[in-house]
Amino acid sequence: MPPPLRFDLLTLFPGLFDGFLTESILKRAIAQGLVEVHRWDIRDWAEGKHRQVDDRPFGGGPGMVLMAPPTVAAVEAVRAMADPPGRLIALTPQGRRLDQAWIRELAREPRLVLLCGRYEGFDERIFEVLEPERLSIGDYVLSGGEVPAMVVVDAVMRLVPGVLGDAESAVDESFGPDGGLEYPHYTRPREFRGRVVPEILLGGDHAAIARWRRQNRR
Ligand SMILES: C[S@@+](CC[C@H](N)C(=O)[O-])C[C@H]1O[C@@H](n2cnc3c(N)ncnc32)[C@H](O)[C@@H]1O
Repeated sequence: MPPPLRFDLLTLFPGLFDGFLTESILKRAIAQGLVEVHRWDIRDWAEGKHRQVDDRPFGGGPGMVLMAPPTVAAVEAVRAMADPPGRLIALTPQGRRLDQAWIRELAREPRLVLLCGRYEGFDERIFEVLEPERLSIGDYVLSGGEVPAMVVVDAVMRLVPGVLGDAESAVDESFGPDGGLEYPHYTRPREFRGRVVPEILLGGDHAAIARWRRQNRR
């Protein structure tokens, strides 16, 4: 069996991932040894009695900024814990917009290190020193990088061979290499509130069904 795809998540709120890691497909993938997920609390690398991780922005303005020293120390320590150091990705609204082609590329990596921001975001020197790739999940602002990290982990892990069973197959899905969207699905009952399932899907003519599905991609 190939080694598991390893994710390292650096965050100020590791508990946010509790339910995500312990339910459904991801839970099973971890149990099967196909995926490994490690969570790290950036605060563990903070210094001083108060283990401070954020501070007011130079130049004034609202909010707090994630400090460079604990964040850089955390990333460097975590990357050094295993070989390879992994592809480092910072979650930020200023990043390149995530799409399925990028997800396919990430699914071929042995290790992904995801850095979650909070508050007003990262001290710029975190980017200068660590030179991460910067990833945005879309043009809107969330409170932290944890949900975007979950988006990356979820979309990537389902492409790891063996993670999806037949019932959840990734074959033929939307945003495949040809860029199309998926066709409509139907299940029982055959009729619902006067709406019937297309006749062609009820017969056993697989070529005709494949043709119908091709023609009805959105
Ligand atoms: C409140 S946001 C910071 C927003 C920042 N002040 C701005 O205006 O762009 C805090 C953190 O949430 C994460 N985040 C928010 N929206 C995101 C998005 N669309 N994609 C990726 N990460 C996001 C980032 O890690 C960010 O550092």
